[in-house]
Amino acid sequence: MNKPRVTAAAVAVALAVAASLWTLRPPDWGLSEEEIVAAERRGRQVFLANCANCHRGEADIPGQDELRADYSSREIAAVLATPPAGMPPFAGSAAERRDLLVFLNGG
Ligand code: HEC
Repeated sequence: MNKPRVTAAAVAVALAVAASLWTLRPPDWGLSEEEIVAAERRGRQVFLANCANCHRGEADIPGQDELRADYSSREIAAVLATPPAGMPPFAGSAAERRDLLVFLNGG
């Protein structure tokens, strides 16, 4: 009788679980171990060139270590897409953006 309701609830739970996994797990960039090492090296340069001036861990702006520890790749990607007041939009390429996220959050 109330089967549709049960199904809807099950779908809602499944979606919630999927959404939380999607948020928690780092994106799968499809990179090999060596590619990850190389991407991290490039991403460090991207960070130094585009972020480090402001993100020194001073005032209320999180520094490199805090960004790595406290923010997922998806959270950082979301901030880059819609930066807060005082932060410029990311000017690099899609590849540089990926390298930056790999550097800050691993492959
Ligand atoms: C011109 C200065 C500036 C540059 C360059 C800059 N940011 Fe920011 N960023 C800010 C400011 C200011 C905030 C807001 C801090 C606050 O008040 O919470 C911020 C916030 C953030 C936040 C969210 C922190 C939070 O929880 O509010 C992330 C993540 C972040 N920046 C990452 C980056 C990355 C990655 C780069 C390099 C691509 C970058 N930022 C470049 C100034 C800058």
